[in-house]
Amino acid sequence: MHFPKEIFRVLSIFKFGKVTFSHAWKQERTRFNLSDELTFNEAIISPLIEVNRLTKSSEKRRRCTSVFELFAAGDDQAAVISHYVYNFHFGCAKKYKQEALKAIEEFQANSLNSELQDKSETEIIAEFSSLMSRVPFPIPREPCFQFIDLFAGIGGFRVALQNLGGHCIFSSEWDKEAKKTYAANFGEVPFGDITSQCVKGAIPPKFEVLCAGFPCQAFSIAGRRGGFEDTRGTLFFEVAEIILKHKPQAFFLENVKGLRNHNGGRTLETILNVLRNDLGYHVPDPQIINANDFGLPQHRERIYIVGFRKKSHAEAFKYPQKIKRKSVFADVKEDTVVMTKYYLSTQYLGCLRRHRARHENKGNGFGFSIIADTEVANAVVCGGMGRERNLVLDHRITDFTAQTRIQGEVNREGIRKMTPREWARLQGFPDRFVIPVADASAYKQFGNSVAVPAIQATAKMILKAIGK
Ligand SMILES: C[S@@+](CC[C@H](N)C(=O)[O-])C[C@H]1O[C@@H](n2cnc3c(N)ncnc32)[C@H](O)[C@@H]1O
Repeated sequence: MHFPKEIFRVLSIFKFGKVTFSHAWKQERTRFNLSDELTFNEAIISPLIEVNRLTKSSEKRRRCTSVFELFAAGDDQAAVISHYVYNFHFGCAKKYKQEALKAIEEFQANSLNSELQDKSETEIIAEFSSLMSRVPFPIPREPCFQFIDLFAGIGGFRVALQNLGGHCIFSSEWDKEAKKTYAANFGEVPFGDITSQCVKGAIPPKFEVLCAGFPCQAFSIAGRRGGFEDTRGTLFFEVAEIILKHKPQAFFLENVKGLRNHNGGRTLETILNVLRNDLGYHVPDPQIINANDFGLPQHRERIYIVGFRKKSHAEAFKYPQKIKRKSVFADVKEDTVVMTKYYLSTQYLGCLRRHRARHENKGNGFGFSIIADTEVANAVVCGGMGRERNLVLDHRITDFTAQTRIQGEVNREGIRKMTPREWARLQGFPDRFVIPVADASAYKQFGNSVAVPAIQATAKMILKAIGK
């Protein structure tokens, strides 16, 4: 599909507003003589990716149409509008209404696009609505519980909880690139910094489950009780404050395994003390869960902390049983030849080998690992040699043309990095999960995310305990 002519054709379908998408889509395909083969992904997601890319050029951006322009901006204005529209049909949009309508008005006033300025509020909302119902991961048709997604990243919790019939009524994530991925998959732009009163104030009053994979920070609690006030200034404090204010039936927190021994165990002790004694929640002992025990070919251990407002719910809760089926890297490996850019240069490979030899001589372990098709991958993490500890052998390469002059020659041993799609699969994201960002961001996002099946299995037990 060529840009920009085709993109405008595709975007123009949204002006049908209330006409159902599939009907409008059929009509437009005929009108513009577009191929029957054109999938929704090609029609909607690819243009969205294009527009995201175009935001770098203000001149081109001005020529983009409304919804996408706003999505690409990814700020709190976009967040409030998308939360409003998303929740509209489920009767819980009231919280966002006033701010959303104000944001739409401001957005129209500032837009250089005259077509947009002439549209009514209803038309603009209809455009959004139409877009959002066609994303890869829409809200389940008949949701059976509501949850919020804090430190949402790219929505690993959201994929898992939507699979269980959950309706996400609020999300927050401040990283611009992660927001792009989130918006492309869920049709909702998360709010930004959760420490800001504005963002916290946007959380609707009622929901059953709070999810948060909050970043771990050192607590300085020396000589003190290790209570709520001692955690002030940390992201955990924000989570605790939201639990205290909204009193969800249950919460589900995820963190690195290292939290258990962080600061000599005192960080976790403080967290549990706050949750149990200051907030009055019933918190079973946290559990270390390995993604590999839930069907993924990745050794990834994380600590899960769940809590319940009611004692009886906590008593009914059990962490999920491991599943018997084990998988290996071959189960997630790309089906076809991957691009040459993923193959290591001879120079870089040499550098890794020399580095390893130096460390081995000193008696240190130094991680670069080649995972065989029959093996389980190391944890995918951003930084800390995450990619190098997960190299693979793949002899299907046919094009040995060096990608850049600086990189040197492509190695002939078939050694390559895993692709972002392989990382997505290692974390249990289905293939319909769209990756709209550059590789560097994608690796970071999947490395930071959660193992979806392990989250889903645990969330299922939480829901069972609270009778949902
Ligand atoms: C460990 S990751 C969580 C990933 C997520 N669970 C997922 O499935 O992708 C923590 C996330 O918190 C975000 N974050 C950190 N501080 C934040 C803040 N003050 N407000 C909003 N998001 C924040 C980071 O950008 C990061 O994406």
